[in-house]
Amino acid sequence: MTLNEIAKKMCARGKGILAADESTGTIAKRFKSINVENLEKNRLNFRQALFSSSAMKDCIGGVILFDETIRQKTTIGSSIPELISKHGAIPGIKVDKGAKALAGSNNETVTEGLDGLRERLKEYYELGARFTKWRAVYKISNEFPSSQSIKSNAHALARYASLVQEAKMVPIVEPEVLMDGFHTIDKCYQVTTDVLNECYNELEIHKVDLKGTVLKPNMVIPGTDCKDKCSSEEIAKKTLDCLKKNVPSIVPGIAFLSGGQSEIESTKNLNEINKINDSNFLITFSYGRGLQASALREFGKNQDNILNIQKAFNHRARMNGLSSKGEWSEDLEKETAA
Ligand code: 13P
Repeated sequence: MTLNEIAKKMCARGKGILAADESTGTIAKRFKSINVENLEKNRLNFRQALFSSSAMKDCIGGVILFDETIRQKTTIGSSIPELISKHGAIPGIKVDKGAKALAGSNNETVTEGLDGLRERLKEYYELGARFTKWRAVYKISNEFPSSQSIKSNAHALARYASLVQEAKMVPIVEPEVLMDGFHTIDKCYQVTTDVLNECYNELEIHKVDLKGTVLKPNMVIPGTDCKDKCSSEEIAKKTLDCLKKNVPSIVPGIAFLSGGQSEIESTKNLNEINKINDSNFLITFSYGRGLQASALREFGKNQDNILNIQKAFNHRARMNGLSSKGEWSEDLEKETAA
């Protein structure tokens, strides 16, 4: 498959991406919230339950893994990438080494992980990965994001993407403007515009073939503490407008992060975006919390009840599959949940 074909398969109509690439530290927080010990076997059991779910085949085009998971074996001895491929999805891998304090800025980060990346990519390809992810993070406040943060993160994202294509994999480019803060939706629109512009400038300089990439952006949404709440219709309109103006139209797929929205919010907003999507982009989800929160709660209630964990995951995956076509509704949500 060409990189363009892989990107289109990851974001195929009715499908999206399962972001199961929480680092050991991040999944520790998720497990703490459900009183589960953060052991390797618990991480494997939870993820194996998700990757063996029946909704994988119809609703999931790709799964993003963490370094530990791509090396694990299932209880019947196959590798995790084999399990994912068997269910019709493409295995992918998070390759960044996390957001680290940005020297010269008092409270911002730059994502690290370029050293030795070429060698790590070769190994991940051999382990079965066909796409990768790198996440840059931007804060909004009166002083942030600084142009230093916008430029340094875009530069790193582009160097990453170029190395990934050299290794014959599709880079997911993830510039995440965080939801935390009091900012309005218009401020988020403006910051997302600046961030996307700088990313596509750098991607061009680094000769990245955009046809073989997937963008993973935030939605254009008010800050969590903003007084002015917005309807899904307004979020959809501003998000689509921002993407159409700032993302080159040859990018095949755009897969949103959920970023702390609830499961229903993230489904509803994606659905509204697809209802009005008149662009060439395949627009879908690449959710972590947005796909896993209910399944995680079931895992916390009884780790051995695989059927209940899968039931919760199947439901969320199906609802998001529908919203990737603009066919979800609150009635369907309730009927299917019942
Ligand atoms: P959330 O959907 O939980 O934001 O996670 C997506 C992700 O992969 C962040 O990098």
